[in-house]
Amino acid sequence: MESATDEQLSLHDDTATDESRDPASILEKELVLVSNRQPYQHSYAEDGSVEIDRPAGGLTAALDPVLRRTGGTWIAWGDGEADGEVTDDDGTVRMPPEEESYTLKRIWLSDEEVSGYYYGYSNRVLWPLSHGGLWKPEYNDRHWARYQQVNERFAAAAAEYATEESMVWFQDYHFALAPRRLRDAVDDAFVMHFWHIPWPGWETFRTCPQRQELLDGLLANDLLGFHIDRYCENFLDCVDECLDDAFVDRDGGEVRYDGRTTTVRAFPMGVDADEIRTASEAADESFWREFQREYGIAPGTRTVVGVDRLDYTKGIVDRLDALERLWTTDTEWRGEFTYVQKANESRSLIPEYRDLQQNVEDAVERINERFGTDDWQPIVYIDDWLSEEELAGLYRHGDAMIVSAIRDGMNLTAKEYVAAQTGDPGVLVLSDQTGAHEELGDHAISINPLQTDDFATAITSALTMDDADRRDRMETLRQRVEANDLTTWMTDVFETARRLQRDE
Ligand code: G6P
Repeated sequence: MESATDEQLSLHDDTATDESRDPASILEKELVLVSNRQPYQHSYAEDGSVEIDRPAGGLTAALDPVLRRTGGTWIAWGDGEADGEVTDDDGTVRMPPEEESYTLKRIWLSDEEVSGYYYGYSNRVLWPLSHGGLWKPEYNDRHWARYQQVNERFAAAAAEYATEESMVWFQDYHFALAPRRLRDAVDDAFVMHFWHIPWPGWETFRTCPQRQELLDGLLANDLLGFHIDRYCENFLDCVDECLDDAFVDRDGGEVRYDGRTTTVRAFPMGVDADEIRTASEAADESFWREFQREYGIAPGTRTVVGVDRLDYTKGIVDRLDALERLWTTDTEWRGEFTYVQKANESRSLIPEYRDLQQNVEDAVERINERFGTDDWQPIVYIDDWLSEEELAGLYRHGDAMIVSAIRDGMNLTAKEYVAAQTGDPGVLVLSDQTGAHEELGDHAISINPLQTDDFATAITSALTMDDADRRDRMETLRQRVEANDLTTWMTDVFETARRLQRDE
C-alpha cells in the first residue's frame, strides 16, 4: 500500500480544484455529527449573564465551519453550566449565535452517566486499551452499563434527526456501540465513524471482556476511519480473530459482517495550516520579547518547546528526565536553552491524571531548584490559557519542539509546530510512537522517549544542527503539513463517503 503521505500528497497535487478544497461542497447528504465534546459551551459570567465559550479541541473547531456551510445537526454532551438556559425543550439551540446555521442538540448527562460513560469506560478502559495496553484498563460493570446506556441515548438522538438522506458521522471512542444502535432504528442512513486514537493489536484487544460488542458496534458503520494504516490493520486483525461470522478482505480494506460491508481506511488528520501560519506571522519579535518577559524566559537563551494535554500517554515525565540527564551530564548546556512546557489540564477527576499533574509539577520544581541560577530558570511551566496567536508565537520562536508521546494516535501539536515555522525554522524532535511519525519522522529527529540517554542526545542534535540541514528538513515538513492539512483530511473522508454511497 502507498504510504499515507504519498497518497495524500498526490491526491492534493493532482486533483486540487476549488471544489476539492471545499469539503462542504462534496456532501450530498445532510450531516448529523455526533461527538462527545460540543463546539460551543454556555457558562455564567461573574455578573450572572450567559456567555459563550469554545471548548479547546481541534476537531470541534475544524468541523464547526463545515456545519456552518452545510447546515445539519451536531449532537454533543451539554456540559456547560448555562447550556440549559439557551436551549429549547428538546435541548436544541441554533449555532453559531451570529449566524444560526446549524442545530446543536445537547444531550444532558446525569452525574452517574458522566462518571460511568466518560470518566469510567471511555477514559479508564477504551483510552488505555487503545493506547496499546501499556496502561492497565480498569474494568467495572457499572461503567460498562453506563457506556451502553449513553451510547443508546446518543444513537436515539441521532435517529431522531437522521433519515435515509442523512450521513451520520460519529467521532471517537466514546461511541463504539452507537452505530449499531442507530442502525436498529434507521437502517438506511449512511453511517461513518472516525476513531481519533490508536487501535491496538489483537494480543492487547483480546484482554477486553467487551471485545465482541465493541467490534459489533463499529461494524454497523459503512465507513470507519483511523489515522494510519497500522491501526486499520490492527482493527482488521481483531475482527478476523474475534468474530467468526465476519469476512475480512485485507487488500480491499473491507469487512463483510451481518449483511453489511464496512470499509476501513486511513485518513491522517491534519491541522489548519493557513490559520496557524497567519497567527504565527503576527507574532513578531516584539511579541516574543513581551512573552519572554511575561513568563520569565531568560532573553539570552534559546528555547525548546513542549505543548501537551496533561495525559500519561504524552511522555512528559520521560521528557523531563531526558532534560535533567542532559543538564546533569553535559554541563555546558546549562544556561544555553530554556525549556517551555505549555500544559493543559485534562480529566483531573481520574487519579492517574491527578498523579501525573503532580509528578510533572514536582519534576519541574526539582529541576529548576537543581540547575536554576539568578538569571536562568531551566524550565518555564505555563498552564495559563494561551490565545491562538500566543501559541503560534511560542511555536514560531521555539528553536526546537519535543513531542515525546509514549503512544499517540496522531499528535497534532507536531503539525502545528511545523505550520508555525514562519521565521528562522526550528527542529522537530518526534517520538517514533506517534501516528505523525509516519508522515514526519524522516525529516524530524526521531526518538524513542523511553531511551533517556539517546533522548538527551537528540535534544543536543536538534540545537546543534547545521543551518542548511535545519532549513531543508523544515521545508519538507512544512510542505507535507500544508498539503495534508485539515481541509485535505475532511475532503478525503467526504469523497470516500461519496464514492461509497454511489456504489451502494
Ligand atoms: C483526545 C481524544 C478526543 C478528545 C481529546 C480531549 O484527543 O481523541 O476525542 O476530545 O482527547 O479530551 P477530552 O476528554 O477533554 O474531551
